[in-house]
Amino acid sequence: MLNDQLQEALNRHMNSEFFSSYMYLSMAAYFDSIHYKGFAHWAQEQANEELGHAMKMYQYILDKGGKIVLLPIEGPPTTWDSCLGAFEEVYKHEQKVTQQINSLYEICQENKDYATQTFLHWFITEQVEEESMSSEIVERIKLAGNSNSAVLLIDSELGSRKSE
Ligand code: FEO
Repeated sequence: MLNDQLQEALNRHMNSEFFSSYMYLSMAAYFDSIHYKGFAHWAQEQANEELGHAMKMYQYILDKGGKIVLLPIEGPPTTWDSCLGAFEEVYKHEQKVTQQINSLYEICQENKDYATQTFLHWFITEQVEEESMSSEIVERIKLAGNSNSAVLLIDSELGSRKSE
């Protein structure tokens, strides 16, 4: 069983993962529109991954006998000022998601819900990877500076991202 506070918090976080998927899909369309096909592919893969995160949460709520409440998904931005600007937003976004998961974990601790704490360990570990990956991309695009060919090299690298 989940108590009302946790059920509400888990549903809210599931919504946030759906929003992440929307945001990355919107970013994929943006990159595509400016012909950075590798970044577009990377963002689309990330959108799929975020959908997986939301569904992990969905299944857990059901497994615990909770009620699924699908909240409205906020509309994501539809454009960014540059590739660097887009990836800076990714990094900022992932830091925010980490904070949300930490708050969720604190609610579990307050409620002495050990099963949900264990469930959240996967998300806590995942966020370390997500923050590190996005920060690395930001730094590499910064290193490329004004060189289009250097940015296109990163684009090509990210275009080889495999589905998980
Ligand atoms: Fe599911 Fe990127 O956090």
